[in-house]
Amino acid sequence: MTTVLRTERMLYGGDYNPEQWPEEVWAEDMALFRQARINSVTLNVFSWATLQPAEDEYDFTRLDRIVKTVSEAGLSIVMATSTAALPAWMSLRYPDVNRVDVQGRRMRHGGRHNACISSPTYRRYSAALAERLAERYSAEPGIVAWHVSNEYGGFCWCDNCAAGFRDWLRARYGTIDAVNDAWNAAFWSHTYHSFDEIFPPGELGDALGEKSVLPGFSLDYRRFYGAAVLESFREEKAAIRRFDAERPVTTNLMGTFPDYDYFDWGDDLDIVSWDSYPAHDTTPAQICLAHDLMRAVGHQKPFMLMEQTPSRQNWQPYNSLKRPGQMRQQSWQAVARGADTIQFFQLRQSRAGCEKFHGAVIGTDGTAETRTFREVAELGAELARTSPRIMGSQVEHGAVAVVFDWQSRWGIGLSAGPSRSLDYVREVERWYTELHRRNIPVDVVPATGPFDGYAAVIAPCLYMMGDETAGALRRYVAGGGRLLLTPMSGLVDEYDRLHLGQAPVPLRDLAGVWVEETDALPPSTVVPLAFGEDGDGGGGATATILCDVVHPDAGTEVLARYAGEYYAGTPALTFKPSGEGGGVFYSASFPDADGVRLTVDALLSGTGVRAADLPEGVELSRRVAGDGRVLTFLINTTAVPQEVRVDVSGTELLASASFDGATTLEPYGVAVVETAP
Ligand code: GLA
Ligand code: ZN
Repeated sequence: MTTVLRTERMLYGGDYNPEQWPEEVWAEDMALFRQARINSVTLNVFSWATLQPAEDEYDFTRLDRIVKTVSEAGLSIVMATSTAALPAWMSLRYPDVNRVDVQGRRMRHGGRHNACISSPTYRRYSAALAERLAERYSAEPGIVAWHVSNEYGGFCWCDNCAAGFRDWLRARYGTIDAVNDAWNAAFWSHTYHSFDEIFPPGELGDALGEKSVLPGFSLDYRRFYGAAVLESFREEKAAIRRFDAERPVTTNLMGTFPDYDYFDWGDDLDIVSWDSYPAHDTTPAQICLAHDLMRAVGHQKPFMLMEQTPSRQNWQPYNSLKRPGQMRQQSWQAVARGADTIQFFQLRQSRAGCEKFHGAVIGTDGTAETRTFREVAELGAELARTSPRIMGSQVEHGAVAVVFDWQSRWGIGLSAGPSRSLDYVREVERWYTELHRRNIPVDVVPATGPFDGYAAVIAPCLYMMGDETAGALRRYVAGGGRLLLTPMSGLVDEYDRLHLGQAPVPLRDLAGVWVEETDALPPSTVVPLAFGEDGDGGGGATATILCDVVHPDAGTEVLARYAGEYYAGTPALTFKPSGEGGGVFYSASFPDADGVRLTVDALLSGTGVRAADLPEGVELSRRVAGDGRVLTFLINTTAVPQEVRVDVSGTELLASASFDGATTLEPYGVAVVETAP
């Protein structure tokens, strides 16, 4: 197994669908790619219906010609397995491949990302196709990676899935009594007497829209389904491995996408790859959080930016264009956070179909005369020159860790109450955004750590706390770590059963407070917060969404209090010291930006972790090469020039000029400073 891309330069290219075009166009494409310094293509993402026109017939003639064309043009190939959209004959002959939706309707052929993952037919033929592709093409020197399926997502609620779920439950629980116990099935007469009584919790059963009658049941269904998807990925990967022992195998993930717990995938993906599609109103902090999360899935190693649009999307409500310079800026932002490739969706625009308005490197004019093409070509030249000095370097270890936990997110999401304004990802962003604003290096980490080496750990809404998570956090605090908890922390075990006792039960002693009750604030209602001993340090900060009413222990410091509601004067932020300089901070509410700022001040005080002194909207982050060279990325995410003065010197790689710490970054401008060890 290999985890590195064996390329000298960063892969620069992306999804290429020549099968949608007559062959004369391919030659034009090769010439334009050369002009844009595109060096790689991702092929064969959606071609199953032509690769296997009938059950016992395979036809690779067109793919052979495509591979020959791009190989002769000197392009590297990311070869996809084409298993993300079913051929129509398969849907007709074997209806088990078609998903049953949450309302119990069996789908017909159509769309994509449409296979039931439990379908024996799908599993057999997807692995068979991957195997035939590997057999046929693994000798191609141009192939640099394999791309299994595409953007795995969604669920199925069919009888095969029901059977698979029952097997999964038997393996996990052994007996039906253990299942009943885990799900607290006595609730609303759900006690089961045999595994055969259990069906997927869709809308014919226990799903209440997004919520669930028995969240433990629905959680287990998600876990089962995600495990089956991963299993299917493994089968395709194993099929590829029969003919290619070497090249990395990946599938493209989607950042904070909700459906599957991507941390389960980290060991199976030879390299993480992901698709970044910020909307016009996505903040730079949200984009960076997604990069940091994807890097975390790959154990903090470099990843592939498998897709981004060079200009605009088509599937958002408002598909604003990236402004001049912004595609370059977002590309370098990805590199700064660990991307070792820059790839686009897509290289040539589709002529028809629902993506005909999606941006592409080559538009329907078929020329190099567009702004998009020029910007792609300029970035291509820049990466060709500089990327060998960057590839393989590691993003510097974070000073602060932010926990992201799909299990807590699912548990909260499936639970009715306490507030519909509660959104797990927004709560992670609330804290991440403040660290991003300060340019503090952050690692996103799973709930079980590792937490070593972080001056502070922020665990927003860490709702689900089993023994492993609680143990890891306890060890961190005992070793001098500073941990910040928020409302909705430590409430349930891994079966979504409330811990009995004073919340946050598993960390009750370390937290130094207990939560007596939790108030949900109606929309646009806030409660003033008073920070500091005299209560005058609030500066207008407010609590939003949820307010825990808490009781501090003796020895717990009260750092802020509520200044409104019947709980005025009670603690809103506490600190219980323990260990050397460490301890637990409990933020009893979700503070607004001012409140978050003051809370982070308290959390980091005395740790030596400091904000970089930069204008708002300028990012600074670092990667460290194996030979000790430090690469400092300065990124202007705003549309206006920014004066920057930093304590960094060396060579600015993009302009090949010496750098002494002062520069003006153009709108969306970037500087990459290399400092010798
Ligand atoms: C996803 C898919 C691509 C394409 C793009 C459009 O990332 O993987 O096939 O549909 O979205 O933005
Ligand atoms: Zn199914």
